[in-house]
Amino acid sequence: RKPQNHILVIFGASGDLTKRKLIPALADLYHQELLPENFAVLGLGRTELSDEQFRDKMSDGVKEFASKKEREHNDFLDQLYYYSFNTKEGSEYEGFRNRLEELDKEVGSEGNFIFYLATPPSMYPLVPKFLAEQGLNKSDSGFRRLIVEKPFGYDLESAQQLNCDLLKYFHEEQIYRIDHYLGKETVQNLLVTRFSNGIFEPLWNRNFIHHVEVTSSEDIGVGGRGGYYDDSGAMRDMVQNHLLLLTSLVAMEPPTLVNAESIRNEIVKVLQSLRPIPKDKVEDFVIRGQYTESKVRGEDVKGYRQEEGVDPKSRTETFVAMKFFIDNWRWAGVPFYIRTGKMLPTRVTEIVIHFQPTPHHLFSEDKEILRQQNQMVIRIQPDEGLLMKFGMKVPGAGFRVQDVNMDFHYSELGDTYLPSAYERLLLDCMLGDPTLYSRGDAVEAAWKFIDPILKAWKENPCIKVHGYPGGTWGPDVSDDLIEGNMTWRYPCK
Ligand code: BG6
Repeated sequence: RKPQNHILVIFGASGDLTKRKLIPALADLYHQELLPENFAVLGLGRTELSDEQFRDKMSDGVKEFASKKEREHNDFLDQLYYYSFNTKEGSEYEGFRNRLEELDKEVGSEGNFIFYLATPPSMYPLVPKFLAEQGLNKSDSGFRRLIVEKPFGYDLESAQQLNCDLLKYFHEEQIYRIDHYLGKETVQNLLVTRFSNGIFEPLWNRNFIHHVEVTSSEDIGVGGRGGYYDDSGAMRDMVQNHLLLLTSLVAMEPPTLVNAESIRNEIVKVLQSLRPIPKDKVEDFVIRGQYTESKVRGEDVKGYRQEEGVDPKSRTETFVAMKFFIDNWRWAGVPFYIRTGKMLPTRVTEIVIHFQPTPHHLFSEDKEILRQQNQMVIRIQPDEGLLMKFGMKVPGAGFRVQDVNMDFHYSELGDTYLPSAYERLLLDCMLGDPTLYSRGDAVEAAWKFIDPILKAWKENPCIKVHGYPGGTWGPDVSDDLIEGNMTWRYPCK
């Protein structure tokens, strides 16, 4: 099914996101013939650029970042236009509306518009208001949709305020809040793995699952994003959105139908069941860390405080490990551990389901072996796939046990193409399907859980920010979070 004819309007089009993610994803959709017949992108920004200059700039992005970069892109690039104005000034929106309406006639996009906010978050409440002043937020004939990038709020209060601001001008059904993790193929596959296989679902509860681990590690530092990151930190940047979303998909109940309402209803229920972490117990449940100067694979790497744009005395966390519980029927008493960080040994996102051990260890008491088996590892990226680890008899005398793997790699599916997250999400919005976008109540529920932790960190300087040398798995104390004789799984490259 192809989307209806429309124009995609990108606010903040001279920025990095447009060049690295949005335009390459659109180019890939174009080459799969998934874009509508009459389609255009209208990039907006303060930087003065002609259509030609914008196309040249975007052409570089496509060559570098699109999956189908080897293709000829001229026809696609011809569909890109640019209009320069000060998007902070309501009085300048009339000129923009005129340009948009003119382009709409030229292209034949039938008055259907998607507005994509790829701007700094301070613009999120302003743009919808100015669009509404021009009557661009609704239409009797065409569709009007609004895509909002992360970060969605800075804390609970600002997220609630932002929801309120958006809802003054757009209905919830018109608002598409992006969390690009939901656009990842393997994240969606979590639902299929769980709900289309009779083998797993009966075991998927407190009776058979001992604990769940979710790790998202990166082997790079903050790079050129120090200014943004220092004000955000790993908790806001990764945990509040991506990691809690992964947790929700692991933990949710089966939806009644595969549609936006049913799936998003189940996600929000998990987020609302997260047991609050009391402010005075934060240190028992959450470890924060910051990478320090070190040598990684023989190379000197900067510490976080030496990064450009970062306060040399910064206490912003670049690592978070935490333990929490989901207080509901299915998960009562099962600990969930999540961990994320910059400058760790490798880039990997995975979920590990640790099944309950056998009640009595007949063959081996070896703790290391017991730790390794009985696991299901869902590899979100890279090397997308699914791994089961269990114990087998070592051939020969006696009953020695060894852990073995049953491993599925997406790459083995031959020429199957894995679309990028932005490709999938942009297409869904064009088709009017919000299933893989976050709903307002879910965003607020996630903030409600995170907010007291951030407040405790802010108000209580005695809560440690543990230093960890770049290239290691974060502060050693994060191992102490895990109960019993368990540790985190340390995936290798
Ligand atoms: C973004 C964060 O949302 O996700 C970045 O702002 C992080 O700091 C990125 O690097 C990770 O995404 P992915 O898809 O590379 O795992």
